[in-house]
Amino acid sequence: MTTATTSTDSTTGSASTTNSASTTGSASTASTASTPGTVSTTGSASTVLPLAGRVAVVTGASSGIGEATARLLAARGAAVALLARRADRLAGHVAGIEAAGGTALAVPADVTDPAAVTAAAERVRAELGRADLLVNNAGLALPDHLGRGGDTWRRMIDVNVGGAFAVIEAFVPDLVAAAAERGHADLVTISSAAADTVLPGFGGYAASKAAVSHLLRNLRAELAPKDVRVTAVEPGAVDTELRDDLGDPALTSAVQEAVAALGPLPTGTDVAELIAFAVTRPRHVSLPRLSLLPAYEV
Ligand SMILES: NC(=O)c1ccc[n+]([C@@H]2O[C@H](COP(=O)([O-])OP(=O)(O)OC[C@H]3O[C@@H](n4cnc5c(N)ncnc54)[C@H](OP(=O)(O)O)[C@@H]3O)[C@@H](O)[C@H]2O)c1
Repeated sequence: MTTATTSTDSTTGSASTTNSASTTGSASTASTASTPGTVSTTGSASTVLPLAGRVAVVTGASSGIGEATARLLAARGAAVALLARRADRLAGHVAGIEAAGGTALAVPADVTDPAAVTAAAERVRAELGRADLLVNNAGLALPDHLGRGGDTWRRMIDVNVGGAFAVIEAFVPDLVAAAAERGHADLVTISSAAADTVLPGFGGYAASKAAVSHLLRNLRAELAPKDVRVTAVEPGAVDTELRDDLGDPALTSAVQEAVAALGPLPTGTDVAELIAFAVTRPRHVSLPRLSLLPAYEV
């Protein structure tokens, strides 16, 4: 069911009409936090969504953590652009979000193609408005095959590091402008517990995530004075498609067995809940580095 609610943005003072999707059961009432996009209550607190008025971009939104995050941010009121290469999957997720009363846009693009990422940013600006919430999540994890002629490490660097840079380059001007106008914006990047872990056979992946986490520490210093809150999320194993095909059936089975031994894994939705929590804190609160592990991973 969709309920239209006219409210006042507590930051800009401008009236806006928002759609409240009650299908997910995840609508929450606005707190007293003065986060931009938070809509002040008008007496019907049950229909107020904490991300109403915000424009979110989620990369890697065709599956796993990105898909769950796009769905959750939309259910909490944000207009969400979903970016990844598999256009058919994105279209399906957009249809699902819209059917639940949310607003979403499919933006097929490869993050290793800076021109495509720039074009995607222009499209988001034209169709949804200036982004004030970026979830930089697209990535992949492959074994290195170092010394055996493989170059998967290069793909890891291209997608996980180069792609993250391209997306940040394309969207940071919008985040900074949104923060200047409304007082606040959020840049979230999905790194990994691998940023700090020794993973034999996956050194390229671990190194790429170490680069991302360190980039985020630097960006936080640069962007905090501009009111852009920077958050690195560093999950351990999550139940997604990431390990479904490591390019080597024997290795894929071995890795899947090792991960299964950890017991039940967090889901993409568990990570999405953490992201939604971080971006709805009051603006004087920053959660720069968030870890999320399977309960039995130590
Ligand atoms: N699952 C875990 O255990 C785990 C743990 C720690 C960190 N992470 C991180 O979480 C992030 C999301 O992964 P996931 O676990 O949700 O796995 P996933 O289901 O495989 O999702 C990966 C996403 O990245 C997108 N992607 C890959 N290459 C891309 C490219 N060149 N351009 C645009 N999009 C691209 C994929 O979409 P298309 O194929 O449609 O392009 C897909 O939507 C990754 O950064 C990963 O490193 C995962």
